[in-house]
Amino acid sequence: MRQHLIDPEICIRCNTCEETCPVDAISHDSRNYVVDAAKCKLCYNCISPCPTGAIDSWRNMPADKAYPLAEQLLWDTLPGQIALDAPAEVGAGDTAPELPDDVERIAAASTAGQGGTAPPPWSAAHPYANLYGIHNPAVATVSGNFKLTAEDASSDIRHIVLDFGNASFPVLEGQTIGILAPGLDAHGKPHHVRLYSVASPRDGERPRYNNLSLTVKRVTEDHEGKAAQGIASNYLCDLKKGDKVNVVGPYGTSFLMPNHPGSNLLMICTGTGSAPMRAMTERRRRKFAAGENAGKLMLFFGARSPGELPYFGPLTKLPKEFIDINFGFSRVPGEPKRYVQDLLRERGGDVARLLRDDNTYVYLCGLKGMEKGVEDAFTEACRANGLDWSALRPQLLQQGRYHVETY
Ligand code: A2P
Repeated sequence: MRQHLIDPEICIRCNTCEETCPVDAISHDSRNYVVDAAKCKLCYNCISPCPTGAIDSWRNMPADKAYPLAEQLLWDTLPGQIALDAPAEVGAGDTAPELPDDVERIAAASTAGQGGTAPPPWSAAHPYANLYGIHNPAVATVSGNFKLTAEDASSDIRHIVLDFGNASFPVLEGQTIGILAPGLDAHGKPHHVRLYSVASPRDGERPRYNNLSLTVKRVTEDHEGKAAQGIASNYLCDLKKGDKVNVVGPYGTSFLMPNHPGSNLLMICTGTGSAPMRAMTERRRRKFAAGENAGKLMLFFGARSPGELPYFGPLTKLPKEFIDINFGFSRVPGEPKRYVQDLLRERGGDVARLLRDDNTYVYLCGLKGMEKGVEDAFTEACRANGLDWSALRPQLLQQGRYHVETY
């Protein structure tokens, strides 16, 4: 049998494969993501959404000797290909064979369905991915660490600038990089890679410098609100100028911006989900400043209060004719709670006008919880303005015009 496995050394534990698998064959514990050979139907749906390629691992095994889940959960590295008596039907090795036509069609269909990953915009630049892995990370130097949130804010969000010196680390807006925090986890093993979206445009935080920026929130509690110190976020937020950081990646070949002049960006984000929006906005702002056609930009940004909203000051200074900004604050004393989806409804006419335009590309990044609210708001805004979101959504996905990254 051909057994599908996940390489624990490369896997960044982003959960994309587990979310994608249509037969629930993928599961995880606090350490590893694993594939149940008894459930996996080799449909390949999980292969392309994986940002690192860790999912693309295979071993030819005797049918009665597939690696059990309990064994996979203990691995730090993939075992080598064992010697088999008879040649296997498909080639041994780590890489999946070319997908037969019918499998490609299944993958394309799943992309256009609910969820799924859209292809990149047709005019996106070609992204580099996986240039540096955990055995050969790039070493960046911290050239700045600035607090973005107000001193009295409940969250500590930072703008961290990493300089790559002479190392080639090309990134596009919308891509992510992986950070290797030093030290060992509770099992005495190196920490897993943690992913962060790049917040600067492709030509650098400072144009033509070999640097990039990240927007990092110090994690002090888990999703249930219980105290928990985020390993990588606390490491990053405490970095000082001159410190060295091990970086892997870059990752991401889908959540990319269009390059053609006059293409519009409809961006919706909460909190640190603003990082890719800042990268895209700054890319277009530089074009706008140079007198080029920067297209229409519309931003919906949700935060607890102005003091908790990363880049609040710089955003408010952008020219109105360049970008249409809508802030939604949820915890301003004496004011009603407003989420991005409320703003989308209020601006429904303008949102629908943009959605109607074939040159509009939609980006959603931030809290998982907002996904449904935003979809509902799109449904309403479309209905009120003569569009049908349920028909438009799959078209946008298929055309690489709807990109969602939530966590
Ligand atoms: P809330 O004040 O209700 O938590 P955070 O600061 O935790 O990163 O959140 C960023 C913003 O996103 C906050 O204003 C938060 O509001 C808001 N938010 C929380 N849940 C949702 C949701 N389901 N849809 C949209 N926005 C949300």
